[in-house]
Amino acid sequence: MDLYEYQARDLFRKHGVPVLGGGTATTPEQAQAVAEDMFAHGSSLVVVKAQVKTGGRGKAGGVKLARSADEARAAAEKILGMDIKGHAVRTVLIAEGADIASEFYFSILLDRAERRYLAMCSKEGGMEIETLAKERPEALARVAIDPLVGVNADVAAQIVEAAGFEPGPVATGVASAIIQLWEVFSEEDATLVEVNPLVATPEDTVLAVDGKVSLDDNSRFRHPEHTDLKDTSEADPLETRAKEAGLNYVRLEGEVGVLGNGAGLVMSTLDVVAGAGERHGGMRPANFLDLGGGSSAEVMATGLEVVASDPQVRAILVNVFGGITSCDTVANGIVTAVGALEDFDKPIVVRLDGNNAALGRQILADADIDGVTVVPTMEGAADVVTEIAEKLGA
Ligand SMILES: Nc1ncnc2c1ncn2[C@@H]1O[C@H](COP(=O)(O)OP(=O)(O)OP(=O)(O)O)[C@@H](O)[C@H]1O
Ligand SMILES: [Mg+2]
Repeated sequence: MDLYEYQARDLFRKHGVPVLGGGTATTPEQAQAVAEDMFAHGSSLVVVKAQVKTGGRGKAGGVKLARSADEARAAAEKILGMDIKGHAVRTVLIAEGADIASEFYFSILLDRAERRYLAMCSKEGGMEIETLAKERPEALARVAIDPLVGVNADVAAQIVEAAGFEPGPVATGVASAIIQLWEVFSEEDATLVEVNPLVATPEDTVLAVDGKVSLDDNSRFRHPEHTDLKDTSEADPLETRAKEAGLNYVRLEGEVGVLGNGAGLVMSTLDVVAGAGERHGGMRPANFLDLGGGSSAEVMATGLEVVASDPQVRAILVNVFGGITSCDTVANGIVTAVGALEDFDKPIVVRLDGNNAALGRQILADADIDGVTVVPTMEGAADVVTEIAEKLGA
């Protein structure tokens, strides 16, 4: 789960990373009130910043300075509702303005290939890191982090030195921020913590003025407090609905709904459908949906409902290999599910194989449901379903 900048800042603050004050707003009036309060408490400059989960906000006009509450209001008016790389701005952060003498870059991420964490640090922050890494790779220090050691004072000093900081108060401030950022990374179970820019003021105070954090969803059980960070307004409503039902669903762009049991089987079904689609008008899979182990009637009904409510879906392929869940259970699930769903009118092609396949097919044949076709092989089923989808689009 990616966090908004303001949420990342809250985590930074919690772990002692130096950040300035600020507040969020969803209307220009709120932005004005937040800014008014900040100016009343001694601020001379605030920065109104678009809160979207994508980079390059500054370049897109989503970061504006304001020297009065009126200016903050005007800036929020411009930024709220803006579209930045396909992300609608619904919230702005009104951040205390930092007096910036220099900008640096720092990040920690999971380096899967090396089975380590990787810290990256540069004295040249502010600009896009991809550009820096490409054009001046020597300016970007990369230090592997041993997960068993983490970032202690020695490791932090090593990172700061590798980045070319001269010994002094700024280097000390950066090293200290790095130790706290590691604490954010490890204690919050993040897969990415990035600060671009980390800045030094003319007084050599080090501050994080931007923050990007991705949390590891697999560790959610350890962090009930992270549930509040979830933003359902941006998520696909179908994905949210599927997630609530415990289904693994990812929306794609095609016309053929796909349900199966087991992630591996569903992945290969997507390939086979895309392959068959090449012979049938370029039909493609519309989604990934893994029913999981127990494909009960209820799970099947929810799965079919989610997939069918995608208006792009013209026909559905149910591909089940019976293992622990036997095919007769799945077949009964389909019969019950289709019966229970009102106005279910999308054609379904079913391929059942494995445990009790013959019985499962028999159950479907006996039920004789309109629009349900049973095909014995996966490739055959993909062929039939893409053909149906192509015809329905004609
Ligand atoms: N609180 C602040 N005080 C002073 N200047 C700021 C502040 N926040 C941002 N800036 C200035 O604006 C620039 C862009 O801000 P920021 O890094 O937050 O957005 P961005 O880089 O455009 O967005 P992203 O990191 O999502 O690509 C910073 O490099 C900094 O110079
Ligand atoms: Mg930035």
